[in-house]
Amino acid sequence: MAKYQQLVDQLRTQIEARIWPPGEKLPSLRQQAEQSGLSLMTVMHAYEVLESQGWIVSKPQSGYYVAPRAAESRPRLPTQAIAKTDQADTNSFVFDVLQATRDPAIMPFGSAFPDPELFPQRQLMRSLMEALNLSLQAVTEPGDWVVIENPSFYGALQAIERLKLNAIAIASDVEQGIDLDELEQALQRWPVKACWLMTNRQNPLGFTLSAERKQQLVALLTRYQVAMIEDDVYSDLYHGHDKPLPARAFDREGYVLHCGSFSKNLVAGFRVGWVAAGRYAQRVQRIQMMSTLSTSAPMQLALADFLSTRSYDTHLKKLRQTLAKRKQLAQQALRRVLPAEAHISDTPGGYFLWITLPEQINATQLYHLALQQGISIAPGQLFSSSESFSHCFRFNTAWPWDARAEAAVETLGTLIGQLAQSVAVKK
Ligand SMILES: Cc1ncc(COP(=O)(O)O)c(C=O)c1O
Repeated sequence: MAKYQQLVDQLRTQIEARIWPPGEKLPSLRQQAEQSGLSLMTVMHAYEVLESQGWIVSKPQSGYYVAPRAAESRPRLPTQAIAKTDQADTNSFVFDVLQATRDPAIMPFGSAFPDPELFPQRQLMRSLMEALNLSLQAVTEPGDWVVIENPSFYGALQAIERLKLNAIAIASDVEQGIDLDELEQALQRWPVKACWLMTNRQNPLGFTLSAERKQQLVALLTRYQVAMIEDDVYSDLYHGHDKPLPARAFDREGYVLHCGSFSKNLVAGFRVGWVAAGRYAQRVQRIQMMSTLSTSAPMQLALADFLSTRSYDTHLKKLRQTLAKRKQLAQQALRRVLPAEAHISDTPGGYFLWITLPEQINATQLYHLALQQGISIAPGQLFSSSESFSHCFRFNTAWPWDARAEAAVETLGTLIGQLAQSVAVKK
């Protein structure tokens, strides 16, 4: 861990423990440097980070003070740099979780896909056109730094791992999405080559950035000449009348590579996607031609044919209605069984719920216990290299809401209660 980070962690823990109460003056930069044996620059960096995270405030010509409500308010998550050498092996755990959801005996709340019965065609064939991976490959070289959200889609973490890149995970919030101030600071601090972000119904949190924030995001990245891979696979599953625009709509200089797919709204098995790659289009095409990846022409033609009829719109309308109904029923069932302190995200559209349990409950433990009872969930650990979401899980509501699902939710509630009790006993 970097030295400044050690000091950040130490002071943060002390502030949380009220060793430094709100309003208290901290040692000056020089005093802190003398006490800790760190350089003045390192101390200054640590204080700046604490200030940017809302723990301390600086007063001109006076020094640094603990922020008035530092211990009570939950400050933003720190930006996390994940060098490729200290990346956890996300792949094997992701594989285990996804593999379990394919067993028909398991209740697939941890799955990333909707019920295939909702789609007009059922298909067994699988093909890749990995628009997202090709895009990432086109704009980076091994060792480059890439910004992702924290938490983020585990596919992004896997792609970063596979291409031997370094990640910078920026705090993202269920309401506001990615923190643009933190993003700008990261762009100033690291030589970032690309971002892999979701602007519509982010997986796993479910937020959609407002048009204004999308515009600000594109302007910021354009200013720093950073490519943005926009993972927009859920944009058709919107709420209300109007489909939200992608960030790509605000891109005048071609820095956004807009990626979409039919996996979440028409046919999961095809895995046909596309990318509008702006200034990087030729590079993406070249990489695709050089790789062995190609999408079957008959599948593309079948899709093109379907899209040219009105059936696609009719299908999407019905799909959105069904998903909204299922999500509402799932939410009601979960509210009945979860502890009062648990929080269920309530973002419109899509089909995921992000559930935040009381901090002492470990969702990975819950995942293992639930699996023994034939129920899968997607624990927070899948979506982050930090421990920040170890008490959270993603819940897929796009499955028929029947007695089996109700019983599975009851079981989940019981397991959560047992975990809470065993933590309380240990204390
Ligand atoms: C955010 C996100 N992006 C991309 C994908 C992958 O889509 P496809 O199956 O079309 O490769 C998924 C699937 O889980 C996803 O959730």
